[in-house]
Amino acid sequence: MPSSAEEASVGPLERGLAVVHALAGAPAGRLRRSDLVRATGLARSTVDRIVTTLVRLGHLREEYGGDAVLTPRVLELGLAYLHASRLPELLGPPAAALADDLDESVSVAVPDRDAVRFVIQTPRRRALSVTFRAGDALPAERCAPGALFAADWDAPDFEHWHARALSDPDDETFPALPRSSAHQRSRPTQEEFRALAKEAGKRGWALDDQLIEPGLLAVAVPVRDGSRRVVCALSVASHSSRHSTASLYERALEPMLRTAQQMTEALTTREERPAAPVPARDASLDPKRELGPDYLQSLARGLSVLAALSDPGGMTLSAVAQATALPRATARRSLLTLQSLGYVAETDRRFIPLPRVLELGYSAVSARSLADVAQPHLVDLVHRVLESASVAVLDGPDIRYIARVAATRVMHVDITVGTRFPAHATSMGRVLLAALPSGQRSAWLAEADLKPLTAHTLTDPVGLQGVLVDAERDGYAIVDQELEEGLRSIAVPLHGPDGKVVAALNIAHHAGRTPLSEVHERLLPALRDTARRIEDDVALAFALRPS
Ligand code: PHB
Repeated sequence: MPSSAEEASVGPLERGLAVVHALAGAPAGRLRRSDLVRATGLARSTVDRIVTTLVRLGHLREEYGGDAVLTPRVLELGLAYLHASRLPELLGPPAAALADDLDESVSVAVPDRDAVRFVIQTPRRRALSVTFRAGDALPAERCAPGALFAADWDAPDFEHWHARALSDPDDETFPALPRSSAHQRSRPTQEEFRALAKEAGKRGWALDDQLIEPGLLAVAVPVRDGSRRVVCALSVASHSSRHSTASLYERALEPMLRTAQQMTEALTTREERPAAPVPARDASLDPKRELGPDYLQSLARGLSVLAALSDPGGMTLSAVAQATALPRATARRSLLTLQSLGYVAETDRRFIPLPRVLELGYSAVSARSLADVAQPHLVDLVHRVLESASVAVLDGPDIRYIARVAATRVMHVDITVGTRFPAHATSMGRVLLAALPSGQRSAWLAEADLKPLTAHTLTDPVGLQGVLVDAERDGYAIVDQELEEGLRSIAVPLHGPDGKVVAALNIAHHAGRTPLSEVHERLLPALRDTARRIEDDVALAFALRPS
């Protein structure tokens, strides 16, 4: 029996994870507090404290309209599982090669209790209304990998599956599943599913003939590790307009079996690697003094323990305590709670995260675009400097806006997402051009039509080349009334996880109202600070995306 003190400290972690889970299942990972109360069955005061704590930890943002939204920081949890399993790292490249070879969607899924959870998805979807993402789960009886995994189930596993199916007749615990009433499938009985699984196990492949939605077909084969244990399934999904199940099987099975064999080799010969790059945060630090009883320390500590579990092969209690700077007894309590909730397993005194961790927002948040990730930071920046802020990418001779938050209207033209301006006359264009490898930069300059847009526009290629060298050295560019009279703008680059510049961030302001000294002293630091915040989020959201 846990002592009442233990119960008091364990409860908030469980309830906090229930809140994250509820948000993860909501469209775009957002809900109002009142909806969170309804979704979790928790008291309003409990939800309030959990939200306060999660906001403080940076896992949640509260928008001006009142929605609570999961932030990219929540991805630390799922990434810990993905790094520890090493599946994206080892199996991602062969999966991508198979997708190229077949020109079809290829995925890798793992068993997650009685469900199937995707860990790798190569998006090549045509004519389908449904797409699954890494992190999404499907009921075992509704997809090709499920029958393969169920081939290894014992009687209690089938019982567990059956009980879950009875308690959730409409598959509401699977938010990724399309809910079209036009395609309600009846579930196989326990006997039918056992027979299907047995057959799939014997044959070594399984088919999905429109189990999920009309038109969606898939073939799956098992992927084994060095000890012949099935660790995941490789699937190829297509559409009935391209294939019948028979022709998909004909076309895909051989290359799939070869890829599965390569995957087994990758899993067998993997070299031991040191800890993954997810930084563990010091959970011993105490915002409790500042926030008082509204700050749920055991939730904060439990989340940092889960995020720290990224070592392949699992971590000992001592390693977890060290990574989180927590006392062993505290780390142990978090681990036991996480274990009882099905997020962590212990084998040979090592703790390892389980696929279920991906239900904590991974699929919703990792699918966000650069613009989605940048948007809330632009809102904060505009509130801070009271000028308009934007993000743009280089597109041929132009920059193209991908995100924008307007303060007041300094410009005559309306700028919206999709607006283009000649790159040479804009600050964002200049930091983007400055980031090009020198050969590409020279080629761009050689081709460019450096049109004057105002009396100030720099139109001399040699002069522009010099300005780009300065921008590269300084890490920012200022353009003063070269695009429009009266308009000045300052931009900095935004880097992706690999350090390459992926976009530019700017603040536009009135040249006559803002002295240059203020641009350097007030706007540039705010811009750099915002760029760093966006880059931190991009590093999480794009961590496992092919570049
Ligand atoms: C998929 O990769 O999206 C997929 C895989 C297996 C299925 C259905 C979809 O049965």
